Amino acid sequence: MHLLVTGGLGFIGSNFIRYIFTHRQDWYITNLDKETYCATPNAHIDFRDNPNYTFVHGDVCDFELASSLLRKDSLDVIMHFAGETHVDKSIDDLEELKRLEFTQTNVRGTQTLLEAVNAHHKLVKNRHAKKRIERFIHMSTDEVYGDLMEGNSFSGYHRKKGSSSETDKLDAKIGNLYAITKENADKTAQTYATDPHNLPVIIVRSSNNYGPWQYPEKLLPLAITNVEEGKNILLYGDGGQIRDWVYVEDTCEALLAVIENGKIPEIYNVGGTWQYGKERKEYTNREIAEIIMKLFGKDTSKIKHVQDRPHHDRLYAIDWSKLHAHTQWEPRIPFPLGLEKTIAWYKQNRAWWEYIKSGQFKEWYRMQYQQRRK
Ligand code: TYD
Repeated sequence: MHLLVTGGLGFIGSNFIRYIFTHRQDWYITNLDKETYCATPNAHIDFRDNPNYTFVHGDVCDFELASSLLRKDSLDVIMHFAGETHVDKSIDDLEELKRLEFTQTNVRGTQTLLEAVNAHHKLVKNRHAKKRIERFIHMSTDEVYGDLMEGNSFSGYHRKKGSSSETDKLDAKIGNLYAITKENADKTAQTYATDPHNLPVIIVRSSNNYGPWQYPEKLLPLAITNVEEGKNILLYGDGGQIRDWVYVEDTCEALLAVIENGKIPEIYNVGGTWQYGKERKEYTNREIAEIIMKLFGKDTSKIKHVQDRPHHDRLYAIDWSKLHAHTQWEPRIPFPLGLEKTIAWYKQNRAWWEYIKSGQFKEWYRMQYQQRRK
């Protein structure tokens, strides 16, 4: 099996490659990555010398490059992770060029790859190439479902439904450019799964991933590394927002299940919150900050509240029962355990995140959180 992974130096992509080389040692992986700021340094340190691994520096918006990789006629599956994922950057008014990259990479990049596969399949049909792509797995997000909570802090919040399932209408929040571009990419991928293209697309809508190698702009690595440095955990607004947290290794296992047993052209949710008779426990951001402090043996005096993110979705909750029904997959790592493992990893890999936090990140962090001071 030969996979083309896009964005394989990113957080989920690099964890996925590591997972595959551990669990399917005879598989080949070509990693197409642009090495942007969030391509985490050293993310491939333990697999870059694997003889089954090839790295290609490049952009998913480069049709010629994608076509040239397909022309080698050895790829079986495309795992499309590459994307701009940082919600705050997609909203921040100081980041106009960055905002353009969200649309460019997330929407145009997805369409470019799909067009390249479509063109390749035409070559196969005309006998100019041999191998069709068996699966194009597009990594989407639960943010495409929009906010499951209605109301506001004055009128009170009201839960619209228990959790999002794959048949729900997509309703990304206007104002959250990240979610809008991902909804657009998701629908674009669905379009290529239909007539006349009929590409073998499977969409995976995953909830908030966490674990080793996550760039410290996201809540958990930022909070953990801040506590390590003796700084505050800064919560947006009242900290009552809820996300579904899935440990990245569980997501990798889900993706392998989709490659091997997922149906075409289906959409699968991947989440980490337990269901099926097990406790379905959701955590607010405030509760998470408190658990982190507790795991560090500290009190809560360094949990501070700052101005809220504009257009901040209050609640995402995901129903992953369809993937379970089709593949038997279910998440293995409950959130408190995953959090402990993640904290242990960040403690052991201090040099890695200190290096990131001392570079460009430092100025961005200062600006970002200065704006948010209440
Ligand atoms: P984040 O990790 O940015 O992921 P996403 O926005 O994709 O869900 O944020 C997770 C939640 O944590 C979200 O409700 C925003 C909140 N948050 C904070 O309260 N403080 C922070 O410093 C960050 C980065 C996020």
